[in-house]
Amino acid sequence: MRRIDFFDTTLRDGEQSAGINLNTAEKLEIARQLERLGAAVIEAGFPASSPGDFEAVQRIATTVRNSTVTGLARAVKSDIDTSWDALKGAEQPHLHVFLATSPIHMEYKLKKTPDQVVDIAVEAVKYARSKFPLVQWSAEDAFRSDPAFLVRILNEVIAAGATTVNIPDTVGYASPQEYGALFRFLKENVRGIDRVKLSAHCHDDLGMAVANSIAAIENGADQVEGTINGIGERAGNAALEEIAVALHIRKDFYNLETGIRLNEIKRTSELVSRLTGVIIQPNKAVVGKNAFAHESGIHQDGMLKNPETYEIITPELIGATKEPLALGKHSGRAAFKDRAITMGFTLSDDQLNEVFAEFKELADKKKEITEDDLFVLFTRQQLEKTETPIYDLESIQVQYGTNNVPTATVTSTNPEGETVSVATTGAGSVEAIFNTLELLVKGDVHILDYQVSSIGKGRDALGQAVVNLNFNGTQLTGRGIAQDVLEASAKAYLNAINRQLVRQSLETQKELAVETVN
Ligand code: KIV
Ligand code: ZN
Repeated sequence: MRRIDFFDTTLRDGEQSAGINLNTAEKLEIARQLERLGAAVIEAGFPASSPGDFEAVQRIATTVRNSTVTGLARAVKSDIDTSWDALKGAEQPHLHVFLATSPIHMEYKLKKTPDQVVDIAVEAVKYARSKFPLVQWSAEDAFRSDPAFLVRILNEVIAAGATTVNIPDTVGYASPQEYGALFRFLKENVRGIDRVKLSAHCHDDLGMAVANSIAAIENGADQVEGTINGIGERAGNAALEEIAVALHIRKDFYNLETGIRLNEIKRTSELVSRLTGVIIQPNKAVVGKNAFAHESGIHQDGMLKNPETYEIITPELIGATKEPLALGKHSGRAAFKDRAITMGFTLSDDQLNEVFAEFKELADKKKEITEDDLFVLFTRQQLEKTETPIYDLESIQVQYGTNNVPTATVTSTNPEGETVSVATTGAGSVEAIFNTLELLVKGDVHILDYQVSSIGKGRDALGQAVVNLNFNGTQLTGRGIAQDVLEASAKAYLNAINRQLVRQSLETQKELAVETVN
C-alpha cells in the first residue's frame, strides 16, 4: 500500500506563531510524544535563529531515534553550518533549507533575479549535501510562483542532490483543485521527481489547509507537513491529526498508510495545547472537546439505537478512552507508579517520590484524582523542575467583597534572590493580582489576552490560566495550574515573565562561558 510520510513542524512553524514560546524541556517532551505518535520527520526548530532554538534542536536530535529530526535553514552557508552543529548527532541528519520563488518574494523580499535565486538554491543544496545525507529543499511561496520557473528550479535542486522537494502554499491561498493540479503538473514535468520525496506544506488562511494537503496526496505527494492542532502563524498550518484520521476513516477511498498511531492523537493534542497555552476550540475536528458530543435528541436517540447512525469516529480511535478508575488519598505508591508507567511517563525514583508527595497533597484537597490531574502532576515533574524560576510565587491572598475594593497580596522571590511581599488594589480580583504583580516585576508589562479553563470535569477540577502578555517588547505566553483560578492566574503571569528572564540569563551565562574559553 502507498505510504504517506507525516512531517511535523509544531516545534518550528507552530512555535513561530505570536506568543508561543516553549523552553527546551517542553520542546523535548513534545518531540518525544511526536515520536510516539509516529511522525516520520520532526522539524525541531530553526537552529540559527537563536541559542535557545539551537539547544532544543540539538537535544531533540540526540534523543529522538525513531523519527528523522530536521532543522530549518536559510539558503546561506552560516545557517547550514550552525544547523549541522545542532543536527550531526541525529540518527539520520536531515536539513530543511528554503528559498522563496514567487515573483513578489524574489523582487521585494530577496531583491534577486530568478537566475540569482536558482544559483543560490543550487549552491545551498550542494553545500548542505556535503554535510547532510538528507536535504529537503522548499520553494517558499511555491503556490504563487510561476509553474515553469518552479519546474526549472526543481530540476536544478534535484540535480544538486536534494532528497525531498517541498511545494508550500505559504500564504494559504490555494484551492484544493489548483494545489492538486500543481502537484500533477510537477510530477509530469520535473526531471527526477520520482527519485525524491515530494512534499506538501499548507497554511490555513482560507480554511483549506487540510483539504489542500489531501489534494496534493491525491496528485502524487509522498509527504504532508503540518502541526498538531493546526497551530502556526496567522491562521495556522494543516492539522496533522485531521489528515491522519481522514485518511484512516476513508481508507476505502484513499487506500493509504501513514505510520501514525492514531491512539496517540488525543494525548499529543493535549500536550501541545497545555504546553503552548493554545486552547483547542471545542468544535475542532477530531480533538475538540465536543467532537464526540451528541446533544440533539434525535442524534442521541439514533446513537442509542446504533452508534454508527451519527458517529463516524470513535473516541477510542484517537486514544480518548473512558477515564480509568480515579485514584484517591488511600491509593498506594505502587498503584501510582503503575499509572505513571501506563500513561507513558518515565520517572526516576526520586522524581516519583516527589510527585507522589504532591499527589497526596492534592488528594487531601480533592475527592478523586483523575487522569487529567495525574497528567498535570507528571508533566510538571518532568518539565518545571528543570528550571529555577526568578519570580517564584510563595503565596497569594486576595480579598474580595461586593462592597469592598479588591486587594491582592503576593509573596514571591525576586531577581535579587530576596523574598518580598507586595500588595495593591484593582477593580476586580484578577486586576488586583495583575496590578500587584506589575509592582513586583521590574519592567513594562501589558496584558494582551487572558483565559481560564478547567482541567477535566467536576466542581473540584484543577483550574488552568493562560496569560498572553508583552514584557519589555516581547510577546510571551504563561501557563499556571492550581486548584484556585486566582492562584493559577498569578502563576501564569509569573510563568510568562520567568520564561523571558530564564532564557536571558541562560544566554548571558553561555556568552560568559564563551568569553572565558576565548
Ligand atoms: O510556509 C512556508 O513556506 C514555510 C517554509 C519555511 C517551508 O514554512
Ligand atoms: Zn509554513
